[in-house]
Amino acid sequence: MKNILITGGAGFIGSHVVRRFVENYPDYRIINLDKLTYAGNLANLKEIEDRPNYTFVKGDICDFELMCELFDRYDIDGVIHLAAESHVDRSIKDPFTFARTNVLGTLSLLQAARLKWEAKPEKYEGKRFYHISTDEVYGALEFDSTLFTEDTKYDPHSPYSASKASSDHFVRAFHDTYGMPTIVTNCSNNYGPYQFPEKLIPLFINNIRHRRPLPVYGKGENVRDWLYVEDHARAIDLIFHRGRVAETYNIGGFNEWRNIDLIKVIIKTVDRLLGNAEGTSDDLITYVTDRAGHDLRYAIDSRKLKEELGWEPSLQFEEGIEKTVRWYLDNQEWMDNITSGEYEKYYEDMYKNR
Ligand code: NAD
Ligand code: TYD
Repeated sequence: MKNILITGGAGFIGSHVVRRFVENYPDYRIINLDKLTYAGNLANLKEIEDRPNYTFVKGDICDFELMCELFDRYDIDGVIHLAAESHVDRSIKDPFTFARTNVLGTLSLLQAARLKWEAKPEKYEGKRFYHISTDEVYGALEFDSTLFTEDTKYDPHSPYSASKASSDHFVRAFHDTYGMPTIVTNCSNNYGPYQFPEKLIPLFINNIRHRRPLPVYGKGENVRDWLYVEDHARAIDLIFHRGRVAETYNIGGFNEWRNIDLIKVIIKTVDRLLGNAEGTSDDLITYVTDRAGHDLRYAIDSRKLKEELGWEPSLQFEEGIEKTVRWYLDNQEWMDNITSGEYEKYYEDMYKNR
């Protein structure tokens, strides 16, 4: 494969994937298609924007004509699809946008790939459509239940996870119906540089810096399984090249944290790196009304990926969180640019009456 279309490459995970592919595969042409919603930011890709094997196209995956045109223009033979609306709280306020982008957008991309690939003499040979999804499609675990495997039944609870589940089903349907060589992966919560400060970790780092309250949903007892974003990008690279067609792979960190325990680690790390006395920011913890339908626990069993392709997370959590906090504190300009403009309105809408 030579011409790779990566969607959502200006977002958090997408920017790490684009950077990795542009740097590691100079023979590939990487086309990054992104709508540049509030979550898309070309500053995430500064280091590689002038590379000869990189092209950026601003556009919407729902624009079927544009998707078809891109396949023709760049002779696309591999797709890594990350473009999505990705924040649960936003999906609770505005589910239609999630259905549009995550479901109809994915369908538009699949249909364009199908029509263009089926029209070629070699058809699907050497082609690959890789869809990036989330562990949230599996629903919620109890504290004492076993981890999500690739065979866990889908049971999404939020409009976000319902829309991602739907898109996963469409991708598998295109394999089963048309023979498209598809792969789906379901990953746990990512953290690291370039994440939009609506998600827990960058939001809290930024709030501590500005001495703003840290809104802990409910009792802070929900559990998430955290994976460093570059480990996810490495898994995507491996699976794109060596994963088996029509398979699903779970990707996770074997790294479960109760929110409140994680928050205490973040506070401690930020205070230390800012030179504050230990405990300076503890008073910012503020318990607020819980998220509607808040899933209790997510945790991924990624043994299949380890057994088949040898992938394991490379970074210990303590090291990952230190790197992450350091990055946000060293890149305050990046954060300040993002949090100017519309951000205050978002923040007020989301947290005013909580
Ligand atoms: P993000 O919100 O940071 O980035 C999404 C990107 O998609 C942005 O650049 C945005 O501009 C672009 N986009 C949105 N709608 C678009 C449209 N209609 N057309 C073209 N581009 C559009 O998301 P992320 O956290 O980087 O997540 C990327 C993917 O990984 C998503 O599919 C998400 O469901 C999945 N995922 C995320 C996590 C996580 O912890 N963040 C975990 C597992 C899976
Ligand atoms: P988030 O980063 O939104 O990821 P997801 O909901 O996809 O897992 O949230 C991670 C956890 O942190 C989740 O249990 C909700 C909780 N949370 C808070 O307690 N306060 C907040 O302000 C946010 C954004 C999240």
